[in-house]
Amino acid sequence: MNIISLESTFDDTCMCILKKKKILEIKIVHKNLVGVVPKITTNRHIKNFKNIFKIFKKEKVDYISYSYKPGLPGSINVSKSFSMALSYIYKKKIFKVNHLKAHIFSYFIGKKKIFFPFISFLLTGANTKIFLFRNFKKYKVIGKTIDNALGDTINKIGRYMNLKYPCHKKVEKYLKKKYDYFYVINKPKISLINFSYSGIITKIKKLYDKNKKIKNIKGILFFSFFNFLIKDINKKICYIKKKYKINYFIFCGGVSSSNFIRKNISKVKFVKKKFCEDNASMISFYTYLWLHI
Ligand SMILES: [Fe+2]
Repeated sequence: MNIISLESTFDDTCMCILKKKKILEIKIVHKNLVGVVPKITTNRHIKNFKNIFKIFKKEKVDYISYSYKPGLPGSINVSKSFSMALSYIYKKKIFKVNHLKAHIFSYFIGKKKIFFPFISFLLTGANTKIFLFRNFKKYKVIGKTIDNALGDTINKIGRYMNLKYPCHKKVEKYLKKKYDYFYVINKPKISLINFSYSGIITKIKKLYDKNKKIKNIKGILFFSFFNFLIKDINKKICYIKKKYKINYFIFCGGVSSSNFIRKNISKVKFVKKKFCEDNASMISFYTYLWLHI
């Protein structure tokens, strides 16, 4: 059973084919200097899918799937149109896959068993949510950001300090260093299960403006932010364990590939780094689960 999948919800163009549990994926990462421009991104997806498909065109196809939400409407429409064309050519059914659920279940790629119940911290550029999964179809969102997503927050702070977009690589470098001190960032006054970063962005921007001349200030401020983040996530984990009596935690999404987060949050499971960023393998795998569970 071969599944061909497309993923273009944001700025990366990804296509893969899943054959007997083996996945062949081609991904084209867009290089952006300041951020994503929807119109340019849409045009790039069209060109990229055309080129990537040349590699897959001789494959047998049984199912077609694409990521249909959430994301940029123009970018998603490229996947949708391309999938419709493939469906017409191969006379096969199309599956629409939720991008966030695919991120979560990518933890199980290559694993022998899927377990339930579990909690998932989804930390991406555009989404920051906590899910509770009772089984494959029964789930609820138990926590979410009330303003900025975590990845977006890191980029907003980084861009203010003139770091290149996307900022996570530079931030990882800062977090490898040791600092003599850091600033204490207080938890926003919201319920413990939710996230809020807008006040923190303002606070860090102010601290940066005030202390620009201090050596290593960018690193110190990111170190301060990540110390807050670890403390906040650990508190959330304790709260959830008590309230829901669930001990399995899966961390997924681009931000969860941070070495600092992986080193400082213990007794949780992380999605393999290669599946943390957007990819089509997770879309194929989710389709496979949908067909078999
Ligand atoms: Fe994503």
